[in-house]
Amino acid sequence: MFHVKQDYIKIAPSILSADFTRLGEQVREAEKAGADYIHVDVMDGHYVPNITLGPLVTAAVRRSTTLTVDVHLMVEQPERYISAFAEAGADIITIHQEIAPHLHRQVAAIRDAGARAGVAINPGTPLATIEEVLPLLDLVLIMSVNPGFGGQSFIPSSTRKVRRLREMLDERGLHAEIEIDGGISPQTAAEVVAAGVRVLVAGSAIYGHGSVAENIRALRDAAKRGLAAGGA
Ligand code: DX5
Ligand code: ZN
Repeated sequence: MFHVKQDYIKIAPSILSADFTRLGEQVREAEKAGADYIHVDVMDGHYVPNITLGPLVTAAVRRSTTLTVDVHLMVEQPERYISAFAEAGADIITIHQEIAPHLHRQVAAIRDAGARAGVAINPGTPLATIEEVLPLLDLVLIMSVNPGFGGQSFIPSSTRKVRRLREMLDERGLHAEIEIDGGISPQTAAEVVAAGVRVLVAGSAIYGHGSVAENIRALRDAAKRGLAAGGA
């Protein structure tokens, strides 16, 4: 199969920065503004220093939207929770390489639960650690901050990492989506899209200030600039 170039950039608002007192409304605002995925950041206070949300809130998001629900598990022993998130309505479940020593088995468990499978790697984790499982993945999540909190600054070396991952996938004729997460804003989106990202996660840049619709529009404009600069 030959490689099909994709020129559509998906936007995945992270509800971590949303106003939880009106979560359903915030999800619907994003959907109306043309978001593609709703990104749900699950943190357990062990793998990362913060505690956020779990299957109940994921199920509430599921009831608020028809968009793809994209669950990012930052939890130890993720295999214990895969079926709970799948039952809550997750369409994509992403686990971290750093806490999944049996990646083939864990990726298979995600598939068996009926979801698409992603693997995330932290800024300090080399791409080589996921090379063997790339053919099994629907999505690779490049973390451009160390996970744990919204609103951190983009780590610039992430762009080079995306470019190398794009090459690895293209050389092998693979179609996993490249998603990036952490510090994505209209200022950083263009360069990562030009490098090969196809899904932009953004929390504070969408929910942190002003209007959700305008913020999504600004990200789309930046993504278009990135495609024009070499990502198409
Ligand atoms: C970081 C989370 C991110 C985070 C992104 O640990 O995985 O999804 O919410 O937030 P911003 O876009 O504010 O960096
Ligand atoms: Zn995330």
